[in-house]
Amino acid sequence: MKITAVVGSPRGMRSRTRKLVNFVLAGAEEAGAVVDLIDLADMEIAPCTACESCSLDGTCVFADDFSAAYDRIQDADGLVFASPVYVDNVSGQMKVFIDRLADAMHYQNLAGKYGCSVATTGISGGDAVTGYLNHVFNYLGVTTIGGMSAALGSDTEALDRAEAAARDLGKQLALAVRDRPRYPDQEAEMAENREYFAGIVRANRDWRPDGYERWVREGWIREE
Ligand SMILES: Cc1cc2nc3c(=O)[nH]c(=O)nc-3n(C[C@H](O)[C@H](O)[C@H](O)COP(=O)(O)O)c2cc1C
Repeated sequence: MKITAVVGSPRGMRSRTRKLVNFVLAGAEEAGAVVDLIDLADMEIAPCTACESCSLDGTCVFADDFSAAYDRIQDADGLVFASPVYVDNVSGQMKVFIDRLADAMHYQNLAGKYGCSVATTGISGGDAVTGYLNHVFNYLGVTTIGGMSAALGSDTEALDRAEAAARDLGKQLALAVRDRPRYPDQEAEMAENREYFAGIVRANRDWRPDGYERWVREGWIREE
């Protein structure tokens, strides 16, 4: 079982979000997972330019670090998306990464995985950011078990106080990957999203037959 985290802080090793995520991954590891951490601070990822090339064959025009990060998350059974709060939202780095996942959303390439979200903030906005990241998970067809946010202010001990909850979140994610609990509300939302995405998969059928056939096999599209 593999659990991979994506950290959207630009601060690298100094990032408090990264430190909190390391606790989450430690909890997952204790529960038997092999863990991986993708730090967007180490990567050059260009923002989506809406050229729509990916809709032709799933490939982006930018040959940057996104594809390596994408391979790593595709290889995982469980995902952690984590971001600091920047002006009440995810960091720009995290948003750029999420936008580059548009084709994965349309084709539901990550569907069936489990996820959880993590945010750190100075004072406020953490729950809004974990809520947004969980919403993104559902767009991707990833079932979320929830998330945690920590308002750290300038308190140097606040991270230590969040450690137990973070480790537990990682453990719960690993258990979810193992036991595959059902969440009817999320299943309904994901099914509704797929009805919309099915229009894209159908429209691209002639030049992306493999994607179309996969959707038929999954039962997400009725063959015409
Ligand atoms: C550009 C910027 C915007 C921020 N916006 C907010 C904010 O809206 N609300 C808040 O409480 N903290 C805000 N913060 C503080 C960070 O969310 C907080 O320090 C966070 O723990 C940083 O995480 P990191 O160490 O992983 O980068 C902001 C920090 C920066 C640099």
